[in-house]
Amino acid sequence: MIFRSTAKLILFIIGLAPLTWLVTALTCDSIYGTMFMSVDPVQKLNRELGDWALIFLMVTLSVGPLSKILKRKNLIALRRMLGLLTYFYAVLHLTSYIIIDLQLDWHEFVKDVTKRNFIILGMTSVVLLTPLALTSNNISLKILGSKSWKKLHYLVYPAAIIAIIHFFMMIRADYHRPIMYASLLLALLIYRIWTIEIKNTKIISRFRSKI
Ligand code: HEM
Repeated sequence: MIFRSTAKLILFIIGLAPLTWLVTALTCDSIYGTMFMSVDPVQKLNRELGDWALIFLMVTLSVGPLSKILKRKNLIALRRMLGLLTYFYAVLHLTSYIIIDLQLDWHEFVKDVTKRNFIILGMTSVVLLTPLALTSNNISLKILGSKSWKKLHYLVYPAAIIAIIHFFMMIRADYHRPIMYASLLLALLIYRIWTIEIKNTKIISRFRSKI
């Protein structure tokens, strides 16, 4: 129990470190004239927040397989916090785009969305992640029941696929980072399907031995 709470606290501090760094870098740039955030701090901020949303999403998805492979069931306890960190950075990414980049100019937003289709995909991913963030608590788990809750949380896979396509589409050269994320997601999906397959085979053989 103490291990769990300490691990969660450490994860929480680690999870807020990227945001702390970004705020510090922006402050230093504006006060001391440093160049931590490049010549285009607005774009850099937005891209960094998008990067961290995707990194936390990938880590969240990796926790299940890792806990099985390493035989460390207690890792699962960190999944909820990782998922919430994903959503936190995704919302900050969206907020920085609408408030800082577009300065709440809705005409510009409509123009941007029609010109740059990848923004619609980003929005779809956030929409899919929203019910997951809202139901990442014990009360929702109780209300929905474990089966429906699990089914709902499978939405994380389409959300991740769409987020990676969003990344692919915004890039014009050097695709190595989205390719890296896509390969990791493919490996995780193959692992998922493979373990479901094994589970089903076990259930079927247990059922056959009973009749
Ligand atoms: C409403 C939702 C979203 C909007 C409006 C949005 C918008 C954007 C914009 C405007 C950019 C920068 C494009 C440029 O600088 O040319 C971007 C980049 C990016 N977004 Fe999103 N996005 C959304 C959701 C997401 C989500 C859910 C994720 C991941 C989970 C994500 C991950 C990324 C990544 C990884 C980049 C590229 C960062 C880089 O270049 O290093 N976005 N997004």
